[in-house]
Amino acid sequence: MSPLRRKILVSSALPYANGSIHMGHLVEYLQTDIWVRFQKLRGHTCTYVCASDAHGTPIMLKARELGISPQDLTEKISAEFIRDFSDFGIEFDNFYTTHSPENETLVADIYGKLRDSGDIYTRTIEQSYDEKEGMFLPDRFVRGTCPVCKSADQYGDACEVCGATYSPEDLIEPLSVLSGTPPVKRESEHYFFKLSEYGDRLREWMESAALDKNMLAKLEEWFETGLQDWDISRDAPYFGFKIPGTSDKYFYVWLDAPVGYMASFKNLCDRDARLDFDEYWSADSDTELYHFIGKDIMYFHTLFWPAVLIGSGYRTPTSVFAHGFLTVNGQKMSKARGTFINGRAYLDHLNPNHLRYYYAAKLGPTIEDIDLNLDDFIARVNSDLVGKLVNIASRCAGFISKRFDGELADALENEELFASFANSAEQIAEHYENREYSKAMRMVMTLADNANRYIDEYKPWLMIKDENQTEAVQAVCTQGLNMFRSLMIYLAPVIPSVAESARSFLNEERWHWDNAATPLLGTSINKFKPLLTRVEPEQVKAMVEQSKGSLTPTADAAPAEQDDNISIDDFMKVDLRIARIEKAEPVEGADKLLALTLNVGDSTRNVFAGIKAAYDPATLVGRHVIVVANLAPRKMRFGVSEGMVLAAGPGGEDIFLLSPDAGAKPGMRVK
Ligand code: 2FM
Ligand code: ZN
Repeated sequence: MSPLRRKILVSSALPYANGSIHMGHLVEYLQTDIWVRFQKLRGHTCTYVCASDAHGTPIMLKARELGISPQDLTEKISAEFIRDFSDFGIEFDNFYTTHSPENETLVADIYGKLRDSGDIYTRTIEQSYDEKEGMFLPDRFVRGTCPVCKSADQYGDACEVCGATYSPEDLIEPLSVLSGTPPVKRESEHYFFKLSEYGDRLREWMESAALDKNMLAKLEEWFETGLQDWDISRDAPYFGFKIPGTSDKYFYVWLDAPVGYMASFKNLCDRDARLDFDEYWSADSDTELYHFIGKDIMYFHTLFWPAVLIGSGYRTPTSVFAHGFLTVNGQKMSKARGTFINGRAYLDHLNPNHLRYYYAAKLGPTIEDIDLNLDDFIARVNSDLVGKLVNIASRCAGFISKRFDGELADALENEELFASFANSAEQIAEHYENREYSKAMRMVMTLADNANRYIDEYKPWLMIKDENQTEAVQAVCTQGLNMFRSLMIYLAPVIPSVAESARSFLNEERWHWDNAATPLLGTSINKFKPLLTRVEPEQVKAMVEQSKGSLTPTADAAPAEQDDNISIDDFMKVDLRIARIEKAEPVEGADKLLALTLNVGDSTRNVFAGIKAAYDPATLVGRHVIVVANLAPRKMRFGVSEGMVLAAGPGGEDIFLLSPDAGAKPGMRVK
């Protein structure tokens, strides 16, 4: 038995209740579900909560467009979520909604504590306002011509063509996407949380939280850039919780969303006497708390959320686990290529265990992206699950039921071989614990190869023809089925319904992880039924076809739909060079731009870069960057820009200049 019975609370990010679950979402929910099932199989008390993320402007507007209330919309979508998740074998202990009385109470309580301790202040800010619709516009609800490259119809925060970031007012001829009218500037009082005062406390948390090294690097960058206070309010009309003591101010969706983790757990505690809310959430709790998230929402979970918890006297997360994005056939998910696949389209044609195994075989603990290659998916699942794993049982089971009346032998034929299966338990468990699922799957499949080799060597189908060998056949098949059983226990977190069928075939009531180390002998088993069938290419094709037709991408993260491939010839035309920043200055009249003077070896260039929110100009001088050196000069409002500096990140404060190695010199070509 595992020495300690841990108490663990686990969450996955709360999906916005305005779209369907797609293959990208499933990476996270399957990764979490596998981890939770593993902990439960080890005998720990592990509770998995989730909810619909019900608030915010996109949901309010979507409901308006459909002519229903936001509550009705989110309830309908939540019901779909619950059905889809359950059909993928994702087993939440509670799936709730952020639009709940528990959440409202908790958010008000947290806000009250932050306010009473002086962490909240108000400030008047200016924002784009749609006079016709009578509402303030989030940046993404303003579109216009990019001030940098002049591409038409770009969002108010960033240009999808040249990647520049800016404010809606920098757009040329900006228009509200709601009414099509030009927005005006309007002032409003907003509520801010003093994140800037949490640096030391967050550092302390970060050091105790055993975060992944990529996440730590990200946090370091954010600390270096300086923590900015956080605007936690939005003006009416808004779908959310009203800020206590105000008549028209609402909490920003990102304040109440993570509190939704607590609220979902609270709702469960009120129904389940074994769980105590305070035991899990009090500042001195000795339970464990883990949030599984995508890498795009790290800022919220590693800065805002722990700071809010610290400030309001609750415990902080034991750790936060971030995963990467999903590509399909090596590309961003795209409707045109049929690679934007809804969860339901998958379920209509394929077995969820196949996807669960495929993702597990690909997943590690880092924020690296993973690829769902559809040909590889077919090959891998057929070879590993059907060809190797299930094959062990199907080669042994028939002899036991037909020739030995379903009775297993009293002893193993090869104890040493079985011991090699039993002794792998701790190593495989460690891989699961560390979210190294691909390593765990590799170990299991190596053992499956060993089991098949053993059966191949004995060939029970030939032995059975020799009367003197009858008993030996029972022993060999008992050995084979026991190796199969251990592997099925190891795989139970990944392919739960297959493991369950295997368990009932072996005539056992329940499994615990430790059972894999003790063989099943002298008992009677049930008749074997095929546990899993092969994936046929036609099924995958049908899923892809269906995906081309019925699409409801989520409004929060609509995937790219255009074909954005370029040929190698196009790419070779781009002259990438190392440049040294000689000068970096703010640009008068441009909120987001810095004017850079770049030394590109044989000359200097002036380049405008939308990186002001991310970098203090003083820290840039002397730094090497990568620049597109042969971009045609562009005349801008502030002067001529003679190139483009390469950076990565979603925008705003999260822009990261690409840094060449220390040996790079101005003018060097980047290949
Ligand atoms: O990014 C998203 O999809 C958010 N709905 C995730 C919220 S997670 C948590 F903080 F609520
Ligand atoms: Zn542009």
